[in-house]
Amino acid sequence: MANKLDLMPIEDLSEKQAVQELARLAEDIINHDKRYHGDDAPTISDADYDALRARNVAIEVRFPDLVRADSPSFRVGSVASERFDKIEHRVAMLSLGNAFSDEDVVDFSQRVRRFLKLAEDDELTITAEPKIDGLSASIRYEKGVLVQAATRGDGRVGEDVTANIRTVRDVPLVLEGADVPDVIEIRGEIYMSHSDFESLNERQVAEGKDPFANPRNAAAGSLRQLDSRITAARPLRFFAYAWGDVSALPADTQLDVVSAFQRWGVATNTLMKRCSTIENLLETYRDIEVQRASLGYDIDGVVYKVDRLDWQGRLGFVSRSPRWAIAHKFPAEQATTILEGIDIQVGRTGALTPVARLVPVTVGGVVVSNATLHNEDELTRKGVRIGDTVVVQRAGDVIPQIVSVVADKRPDGTKPFVFPTVCPECDSHAVRDVNEKTGKVDVIRRCTGGLICPAQRVERLKHFVSRNALDIEGLGAKQVEAFFKDGLIEGPADIFTLEARDGESFKKLKDREGWGSTSVANLFEGIRERKTVSFDKLLFGLGVRHIGGTTAAVLARTYHDLGGFLQAMEMMTGPESETYQDLIALDGIGAAVADALVDFFQEPHNREAVVALADAGVRPTPLKMQDTGSPVSGKTVVFTGALERMTRAEAKARAEGLGAKVSGSVSKKTDILVAGPGAGSKLKKAEELGVQTLTEDEWLVLIGDG
Ligand code: IVH
Repeated sequence: MANKLDLMPIEDLSEKQAVQELARLAEDIINHDKRYHGDDAPTISDADYDALRARNVAIEVRFPDLVRADSPSFRVGSVASERFDKIEHRVAMLSLGNAFSDEDVVDFSQRVRRFLKLAEDDELTITAEPKIDGLSASIRYEKGVLVQAATRGDGRVGEDVTANIRTVRDVPLVLEGADVPDVIEIRGEIYMSHSDFESLNERQVAEGKDPFANPRNAAAGSLRQLDSRITAARPLRFFAYAWGDVSALPADTQLDVVSAFQRWGVATNTLMKRCSTIENLLETYRDIEVQRASLGYDIDGVVYKVDRLDWQGRLGFVSRSPRWAIAHKFPAEQATTILEGIDIQVGRTGALTPVARLVPVTVGGVVVSNATLHNEDELTRKGVRIGDTVVVQRAGDVIPQIVSVVADKRPDGTKPFVFPTVCPECDSHAVRDVNEKTGKVDVIRRCTGGLICPAQRVERLKHFVSRNALDIEGLGAKQVEAFFKDGLIEGPADIFTLEARDGESFKKLKDREGWGSTSVANLFEGIRERKTVSFDKLLFGLGVRHIGGTTAAVLARTYHDLGGFLQAMEMMTGPESETYQDLIALDGIGAAVADALVDFFQEPHNREAVVALADAGVRPTPLKMQDTGSPVSGKTVVFTGALERMTRAEAKARAEGLGAKVSGSVSKKTDILVAGPGAGSKLKKAEELGVQTLTEDEWLVLIGDG
């Protein structure tokens, strides 16, 4: 800053200077918000950011007439995610499983072979292509004309970036070709080349703006611009490599479909090739790795895909990744730096995690100042001491980690780190449990304070509002922390009573620092809207151990609403109860999940927290059963006995793909039992219960595969 206005005490500012300062702060804060909430990395510490906001408010308090219409005080966090319209993907945008070694690739190929029941001499062709380090987009063409484009978002719902994608030269506005289908969503990666990234950063600096940390962030920041004229001035590129909703595919192999994209005028990657053996795949991987530095754009691995599309169809998906593809990652990038301290963080489940505070260092284009040390044993095993020079590693989006200590750089007088045995947040004992079944000591030391531990409570609340849970607009981790600290919210239900209590049990929210009437109104609207959050997100938000998004969805499909769920949980006293048995019979739910639910609901305060949600008017929306139009959609199916035309895994995947629930045991909730030769007790039970029983062939006819 030329005039050092930013350092001037507020009481010394003239009115004219205040106008300038408010303008600068509004712009700076918006930019930091974007970096924080968008895909680009934040460039200042939370404390510095808070200081900017505090300065803005303080100036506004001294000069109330100068408050700008676009003042950051009217905004809580960034509205980044609400700035664009949402688009629900007709076909989910999935992610890829990872392979880190040659063995992982061999395993992948064997898994595919086993699943498809291929004989040893059957050829399995797999394509290999660079994994581009950008962000994925789905571009919809109808009758060859680009009509819509969306970011990946959470895979189910993305942001409408149609206007911005239209500015990307690698993406034609019209597809040319006789075999362009009526509808096709072309998917691929938006990225920025190294040279374009460098010129963009030069421009940024020349204009007094902050440079981007790396091409990926630059691409993300450019694509997610509200003003598409800005995007147009940013040199974005695109490679097509996949598709979503489509009326008719132009070919029946991966490579041929991608080649068709190219014929139609869409940019594709020329390094993609077919491989017929594992040796071939690994050779291609090494080839691409050698070329990596000279490609002119960032890649972080090689993606393998089963070439035949009918096989892709049979292989289907597991959780959020296709079984027919995998990303073989390049080894992570490393750097050395000095460890300045070790902080102990207390997580939602009480886990004490040691986090290394580092002298900031650039690893693979990103500045790293914290790295995880995982747990007590890891810390001891690596022998990390404060003052040590350490090797830090960062791979893709994962949290940076400490790999090792550079032994001969250890300064004199260091001492081994003593891991605390009491919680640094609440002084409760922190213990390592012994697993009853295996007799093993847990690697994780946990605070025993439960809900008396403020760290656990606030972390649970943060989890409750996190992106994959309630995801309340205007109520992020920072706001939750502040409200918790001041006693405005103690448990999840308090969020939903905040509006009714506003100005009753605490000072009106709009009079709080950093808030105003508009932001408060928006917050309340955001909260009200989430009273009907999708049921799986609510269940996930409860933070029961072992219940991730996929399991939460299974539970949501089973219990439909809070009332039914609570009732079931109250009846589930232990492994002998019927509810417990029903639950573990569901696909994707095992004893660990059922036990975790029993433990969770045995705690009265957890039960009360869920009841309180219902009392506060939370009425989650039942999860839509994917109605696939199949006669087995929504049905509960059990397979038993030997299957002759497909493997058990394939049968299960196919049934689930058609919207059926596959269960491991027969109960009165079973709709169909598919019994092969050798079926025994399950068949008998099904007959007793009057469950419809089919042979494998009858089943295949029913689902249209016969
Ligand atoms: S295929 C259904 N191919 O990697 C599978 N993805 O880690 C669709 N990516 O979300 C993905 N290069 O953003 C595929 N050649 C490539 C890719 C690629 C980059 C990204 C993509 C995806 C992520 C998964």
